[in-house]
Amino acid sequence: MALQVDVLVNRDCLAGLKELNSGAVDLAFADPPFNIGYEYDAYDDRLESEKYLNWCRRWTGEVVRVLKPTGTFWLAIGDEYAAELKIMLQQEHKLTCRSWVVWYYTFGVNCKAKFSRSHAHLFHMVKDPKRFTFDTLSIRVPSARQLVYGDGRANPTGRLPDDTWILRPQDLPGGFQPHEDTWYFPRVCGTFKERTGWHGCQMPEQLLGRIIRACSREGELVLDPFAGSGTTLAVAKKLGRHFLGFELSPEYSARVRQRLARIQPGDPLDGAAEPLVSAPNTANGRRLEEASEPGTRKRRRLSNASQPTLPGL
Ligand SMILES: C[S@@+](CC[C@H](N)C(=O)[O-])C[C@H]1O[C@@H](n2cnc3c(N)ncnc32)[C@H](O)[C@@H]1O
Repeated sequence: MALQVDVLVNRDCLAGLKELNSGAVDLAFADPPFNIGYEYDAYDDRLESEKYLNWCRRWTGEVVRVLKPTGTFWLAIGDEYAAELKIMLQQEHKLTCRSWVVWYYTFGVNCKAKFSRSHAHLFHMVKDPKRFTFDTLSIRVPSARQLVYGDGRANPTGRLPDDTWILRPQDLPGGFQPHEDTWYFPRVCGTFKERTGWHGCQMPEQLLGRIIRACSREGELVLDPFAGSGTTLAVAKKLGRHFLGFELSPEYSARVRQRLARIQPGDPLDGAAEPLVSAPNTANGRRLEEASEPGTRKRRRLSNASQPTLPGL
């Protein structure tokens, strides 16, 4: 099929992927249903385990086929199938895992009889361990030397993020130090300005921003087989990448198209680029310094008013 890009296709991704030529995609990001009984409008997230894994085997195989030899595949997955899918990608599809990122988030669903879920796994996989895009300059974050210690010896360009991604480090004064490997970003909860309000699994734009900036270049093609609320496509468009998404639900697809139509390349990403500087300044209530987002044209001022409030969970 001639490759049509910069579109969201309302279609089963497996059928859609099969029609794409091999080696066409630079970066794929997939956040599939986790098979945990989540309520989607057009997909039943309660498959028998073997059936779910066989389905994953087929769609991941297609994603790998459509990737360029230098392509990158990021997979978001929950605890339930993380181990199986990581082994599947490495042993069956011959990908190399560069990082096993833990995304730690706040505003997860509160559980009464078990520890509440506050993380997901993000596997950073490449086809060729020697040839891939990893633009470290585009994703640097302020270092603790800069932010916490005011150390004059700090590298003014900051540092590479760890592989544990944290979005509210202000809650963890003793944890998630710069040498650790967890990323912190809050889930997009109901009170967030960023929230589209019609998809329960909406990912934060800043999380996709880090992945797309690091692992693709302007003008390259980003694929999301499970578009959901369209975050990957929206961020790809803002960052000047071509994009292609599949989404099973006609309702979600229509809304994603509306979301994309409101975006122009160069628009700033929603949310704070660096969670630490988005924290309320509880010490003295001072306004925070202006923060810039790498890779976008516009700058935004962060203040206490930009901080979301905690829902009553
Ligand atoms: C976890 S959500 C993705 C959320 C997305 N990352 C975001 O930020 O909004 C998974 C999505 O996959 C869609 N989906 C399920 N099966 C699909 C299939 N076979 N092909 C395409 N989309 C599918 C669901 O309707 C749901 O919207």
